[in-house]
Amino acid sequence: MVATTLGANFPVSERVAEMKASATLAAMQAAEAMRAAGVDVVDLGPGEPDFDTPQNIKDAAAEAMRAGKTKYTPTAGTRELQKAIIEMYARDFGANYERNEVMATSGGKQAIFNAVVTLINPGDDVLIPKPYWVTFPEIVTFAGGRSVFIETEENGFVLTADMVRRTITPKTKLIILNSPSNPSGRVIPPNEFRSIMEVLAERGIYAVSDECYLRFVYPPATVFSAASLPSELRKRLCIAGSFSKTYAMTGWRIGYSLANADWTRAMSKVQGHSTSNATSISQAAAVEALNGAQDSVATMLAEYTRRREWLLNALNEIPGLKCPQPEGAFYAFPDVRGCLKQGETSDDFATRLLEEEQTVVTDGAGFGAEGFIRISYATSLDRLKEGVERIKRVAER
Ligand SMILES: Cc1ncc(COP(=O)(O)O)c(C=O)c1O
Repeated sequence: MVATTLGANFPVSERVAEMKASATLAAMQAAEAMRAAGVDVVDLGPGEPDFDTPQNIKDAAAEAMRAGKTKYTPTAGTRELQKAIIEMYARDFGANYERNEVMATSGGKQAIFNAVVTLINPGDDVLIPKPYWVTFPEIVTFAGGRSVFIETEENGFVLTADMVRRTITPKTKLIILNSPSNPSGRVIPPNEFRSIMEVLAERGIYAVSDECYLRFVYPPATVFSAASLPSELRKRLCIAGSFSKTYAMTGWRIGYSLANADWTRAMSKVQGHSTSNATSISQAAAVEALNGAQDSVATMLAEYTRRREWLLNALNEIPGLKCPQPEGAFYAFPDVRGCLKQGETSDDFATRLLEEEQTVVTDGAGFGAEGFIRISYATSLDRLKEGVERIKRVAER
């Protein structure tokens, strides 16, 4: 959609030249350019909540500033935040993490980055189930590894232990799991997750479990963290967590990792020489997010539930479009192959939507799933309704 070229007048390093610019970012830029030109854009692209950060969290941040919590913190985070994370995992998932296994990061993204670059050497293979969050393969490329993708369409994009077993290569060192998934919204059932971890344990393969959308699951699916698995299945596991979606805190850049003490020490080394520590003020806010009232999370979940129900029904009424039931996150990921004209790709479809109906969706190809589009319902029901009308018009044209 938007051409993204890397500096023709700058000798970009080979590793970085190999990385692709983000497809989701391209959609955001396209929407922004249209809005700036005064166009009535329906933006179903965003990967962030349309809610504001809850007031109690903002108040905690203001208080932290007033109290002078404006200095460097230990690289792995303040004691208060480490304690709050450990207690939440003990309370909600029965896990017993120690302080030297917890690290506060600048968003979940940094936790994933730290985990991959501390483990992967050039020549190592990293398994990534399709469709994947755009950042996963790019971090692997940065680390010099090779992404080996797991096809999951046969099971409606839900990963199984059997698929993992079939795709493991002699050089596989790591897998990156993401449930609920961005972009598909699909959730790996807890029993299957456990079977996957058993296959990995048998083969001595490490896992990053990106649990960014942990709290956004819809019944009958239930909240599940890999932290609730028995400790022998967690020896080679790094959980990457985030406050961004759960507490509508994307701009605060705050997340965390949970991994064994040696892995955490290595990650701390990387972070210590890059960003040092997550923002002191965001860390104080995150303590309140975990320890304070959780009713804002329930309110957001209720609103997503309402939108999701409306959206799935409406999408499945569009001729040619098929949308399986995503159990989590705030995305629908319909198959639009039945709506494409002869020779058209899902990117062409997304471009037609943008040009003819000023509606932004994200092409599935960027997530490794040509023929699909991602629709975010982190936007008001009114805008969703308008957006679906527009999608329908383009599909029928
Ligand atoms: C699957 C997934 N993982 C991780 C992240 C990173 O979130 P953050 O770095 O804001 O915590 C995102 C954000 O969009 C995401 O969609």
